Amino acid sequence: MIKKLSVVASLAITLAISSGTSVAEDLTEAIFTPFRQKEIVPVDNKQYKEECGSCHFAYQPGLLPTKSWEKLLTAEALSKHFGENAELDKDTLKVIYDYAIANAADKSFHKRSRKIAIATEHVDAPLRITEVRYIKRKHHEIPEKMIKGNKDVKSLSYCDACHTQANKGVFDADTVRIPNFPDWDD
Ligand code: HEC
Ligand code: HEC
Repeated sequence: MIKKLSVVASLAITLAISSGTSVAEDLTEAIFTPFRQKEIVPVDNKQYKEECGSCHFAYQPGLLPTKSWEKLLTAEALSKHFGENAELDKDTLKVIYDYAIANAADKSFHKRSRKIAIATEHVDAPLRITEVRYIKRKHHEIPEKMIKGNKDVKSLSYCDACHTQANKGVFDADTVRIPNFPDWDD
């Protein structure tokens, strides 16, 4: 579907550029507007929120591509999930798997998901969001004492320790507050 849409979209752009008519511009706008979204889709699946939000905040499926969720969300993988047992019964696993796959980064038009999809396109499936090039780049200037050395953060994996609106799917730099280091500013 995305391929088809981009074909239509590039046709519209070509039209807009070559003819300069407002019809083509309106068409381009109409195609892009519904898809141009900020940030990331918040979690709106009750089971996902409950099961995947009990040990850490429920990472939005749009934070990883399909190929990552395919690896992370098998019965086998969940039984040794980062050193923990996060097993689910078969029915719950199916709901959560389907939900994550349907909302993975590469299927989203939201800004952060697009960046993550592009950053992971030509690499092996990352098993961590914190391994994604785009996410690493956004945090590489933050000194270790503010992350690992910070008793209220401990690891970059705990997004919601610093991103005050992570639960809403908002990761904008303006909404960040690093605990115990109130003066972080770029
Ligand atoms: C029993 C506790 C537990 C449950 C339940 C659990 N996780 Fe985790 N998860 C962890 C731990 C521990 C880590 C590693 C955190 C760290 O490295 O500090 C982790 C890490 C992750 C990461 C990688 C984060 C990063 O570093 O980028 C993802 C993605 C993830 N979990 C997804 C899920 C999903 C989806 C579910 C629901 C199916 C789930 N988790 C349920 C304990 C759990
Ligand atoms: C130690 C606190 C901390 C943790 C934990 C953390 N971040 Fe961040 N994050 C920041 C800061 C600070 C910035 C702003 C960096 C800058 O100045 O550009 C940022 C920036 C970002 C940005 C870019 C925002 C923008 O406006 O460009 C994204 C996306 C993001 N973080 C996602 C995540 C995700 C996803 C996680 C968890 C896997 C996470 N962060 C964990 C502190 C944190």
